[in-house]
Amino acid sequence: MTGVKIAPSILSADFAALADDIARIAGEADLLHVDVMDGHFVPNLTIGAPVVACLRKHTDLYLDCHLMVTNPGDLLDAFADAGADGCTVHVELGDPRPLFDRMRALDLRVGLTLNPETPLPEVVPYLSDIDTLLFMSVHPGFGGQSFIADVLMKVAEARRIIDRENLAVEIEIDGGINEETAPLAAEAGADILVAGSAIFHAKDPAAAARAIRLAAE
Ligand code: DX5
Ligand code: ZN
Repeated sequence: MTGVKIAPSILSADFAALADDIARIAGEADLLHVDVMDGHFVPNLTIGAPVVACLRKHTDLYLDCHLMVTNPGDLLDAFADAGADGCTVHVELGDPRPLFDRMRALDLRVGLTLNPETPLPEVVPYLSDIDTLLFMSVHPGFGGQSFIADVLMKVAEARRIIDRENLAVEIEIDGGINEETAPLAAEAGADILVAGSAIFHAKDPAAAARAIRLAAE
């Protein structure tokens, strides 16, 4: 298994020093994962498009915006304007196709995500419409939670379907990823590993990101 991508989640960075924290891990990051929470779809409130616009001035990294919000359709234009590269929406909100259409029109890469308890068949009908399938391996809302290993079975099944159908979908996993769980996720078939606390709460965040990549490979 080679070539996983590492996506540090800035949820665990210092929100008052984001540019500095991002500069510290930029050399080890393939994407930057941006958790957008509205205090309604999930019980936490974070940041929105204005912060993405500021981040855009400080980094060329792919800005991977994970929208944990009840009305993502209201925000897509603002995220595209802000310089987001891709947005990911939750399947639990209902038929995502209108959101996909808007994302394509805005030239955003299209991501779809499912919560740990949501069955894989909920997303299968959309696999040919998306670029990224994001598996939540914690309950969305907070960093620093424990990895839910049951999700690995869904990842492995999605890997089989994507390979069998020869689909151009990357599998991303988000929540509880560290040096111990990264190999399990990679083995199950994840291409992109999101890690927040394991990177930004480490003494040396770049070394932590490198260690996660090495462990996965
Ligand atoms: C949780 C977020 C995650 C979070 C992961 O709702 O979607 O991206 O930052 O944090 P860790 O890696 O600490 O589990
Ligand atoms: Zn996330």
